[in-house]
Amino acid sequence: MYFSEEVLADVRMGNDIVDVIGEYVKLKKSGANYFGLCPFHNEKTPSFSVSPEKQIYRCFGCGAGGNVFRFIEQKENLTFPETVEYLAKRINYTLPENNSKADAYKREIKQQLWDIHKAAARFYYECLNADMGAEARAYLDKRGVQPNIRKKFGLGYSPDEWNRLNDHLLELGFDQEMILKSGLVNGSNSGRYYDKFRNRLMFPIIDVYGHIIGFGGRQLRDNKEEAKYLNSPDTEIFNKSFNPYNLNFARHANKREFILVEGYMDVIALYQAGFKNAVAALGTAFNSNHASVLKRYTQNIIVLFDSDAAGENAVLRALPVLKEAGISAKVLQVKNAKDPDEYIKSYGAEAFAKLLSTAVNGTMFRIENVKKKYSLDNIDDKISLTRDIVEILAQTDDPLELELYIRDVAKQIGVSPEAILSEVNRIQGVKDRTPKGNGNGLGKSVKNIEVDNALEDAKSGLISLLALDGSLFESVERIFDKKEFLDDLYIKLYDIVKKLHAQNASIQAADIVTYLNGETDEVQSRAARILMAQLPYGSDEQRRHALADDLRLIKTNYIDRMMLEAEDDEQIVRLVQQKKNVENIIKSL
Ligand code: UTP
Ligand code: MN
Repeated sequence: MYFSEEVLADVRMGNDIVDVIGEYVKLKKSGANYFGLCPFHNEKTPSFSVSPEKQIYRCFGCGAGGNVFRFIEQKENLTFPETVEYLAKRINYTLPENNSKADAYKREIKQQLWDIHKAAARFYYECLNADMGAEARAYLDKRGVQPNIRKKFGLGYSPDEWNRLNDHLLELGFDQEMILKSGLVNGSNSGRYYDKFRNRLMFPIIDVYGHIIGFGGRQLRDNKEEAKYLNSPDTEIFNKSFNPYNLNFARHANKREFILVEGYMDVIALYQAGFKNAVAALGTAFNSNHASVLKRYTQNIIVLFDSDAAGENAVLRALPVLKEAGISAKVLQVKNAKDPDEYIKSYGAEAFAKLLSTAVNGTMFRIENVKKKYSLDNIDDKISLTRDIVEILAQTDDPLELELYIRDVAKQIGVSPEAILSEVNRIQGVKDRTPKGNGNGLGKSVKNIEVDNALEDAKSGLISLLALDGSLFESVERIFDKKEFLDDLYIKLYDIVKKLHAQNASIQAADIVTYLNGETDEVQSRAARILMAQLPYGSDEQRRHALADDLRLIKTNYIDRMMLEAEDDEQIVRLVQQKKNVENIIKSL
């Protein structure tokens, strides 16, 4: 159901949040806000607050929060439209009638279009398996698409006739007008109707709710006169940019990342080989709408387009789109094959799995790409290449990545890292000053790697010291428990460093970050920042001092925090005692 913004504002403002919540929770005023026991979790002391001024509520215990709609939605377990109706009734507000009628009408149309698509898919499927489908079946045989996969993807065949589908749909009782709306049939000026897809292999496109919303159709024989693939036009149920192919299966593949490929056949070949997490942007370039849809299901995408120049350019265009959407992208190209489909056919699933693990990050891909444009045997080329690379690096907001690339590139081109860094900083600085900015701290990344408060310094100092010298673990563990970090990231880093030492591995910041692969970008870049902190002390004596200082601060902070959360006096007494004892413990180090 659709409500206009005015209607929503009327209903919300008519229902004062303090009144509404007051019907569920005993509220007491204190300062500007009201407080009470949170109705969403069990608690004895009130951590639930309501702001009459902002008209929102928030629980500091369980994190619940929102406006009056959200509260009723959660509390009464209603859908959003039901919530609006509920609150409208509460204040005797009459919701505009025609709104919901228009909505019901729209819904009815959608339902009919879904039904038409379902019927069409069934029809195409039967045609594929009838006599007339022989050539299409032979084509699928040739391309190695197995019977179970044909069924899984609902592949079909559109007959080589002008209006078989239209007739079929009419016979089933669908309106001619609706059939035209579906985009599967076109009308001509002469008043005749003809099927859009004829003599093609049919690929149903399915949304995440399981509705068939469109089709792709491929020629059976290559014929340059016509498009190799035809796709459904955008309709009331289908928008190419919002419906990547195979999202319906990919989202249930239980994989951390999606593989973004170009075509229907790539998706299907990958699926058949056991890689169910491939999706494709169909018949249109990958854009921010695709990205926003994918972002709902994954933060990580491996871009694997065709290996030709067009594919490579498409990768370069997709990378900024993904970055903008906050998706972390890696890039892969198949070798000795034109696309993933052909690669799997030639080299098999195992080789493909290996290939997947070699995906490089987007920055690396772009650098490798510009390197191809220049030779390194003349100064002009070196200058141009450095410029191009600096442009790319200036878009990186991950300090560790930046640091590593700068070193690497400097060595390869034969310029000093400082020169590159200062260029990068200059570009980032200019960008930072432009009015729109880009909000993610560009330009500060290199300079602001030092963490800015003493406690953070102590925590990262401890991690760095342990990374430097594994033998410290023994004495540290006698007096320190990792939970005293009060921060999951540090606990993880602590565990990783310990593990690496146990394996006798040499420890480098980059290796540690690798272990955080599954984490969000934010976590990874925070880890990078922590690990980048330079240790200022050289001698053993200095290190021992630093270790003691770091531990003292972390431990006292932990005890302070426990005191805040203490529930009874006994506990507080114990904590005070512990705090007094910290110095002795540190001395025993
Ligand atoms: P490709 O030409 O790479 O197709 O186009 P493909 O999937 O490798 O096809 P096969 O292997 O020859 O069957 C990639 C995608 O671009 C869209 C289709 O979605 C196709 O899968 N495309 C391509 C079109 O929409 N129209 C076209 O004419 C060609
Ligand atoms: Mn292809």
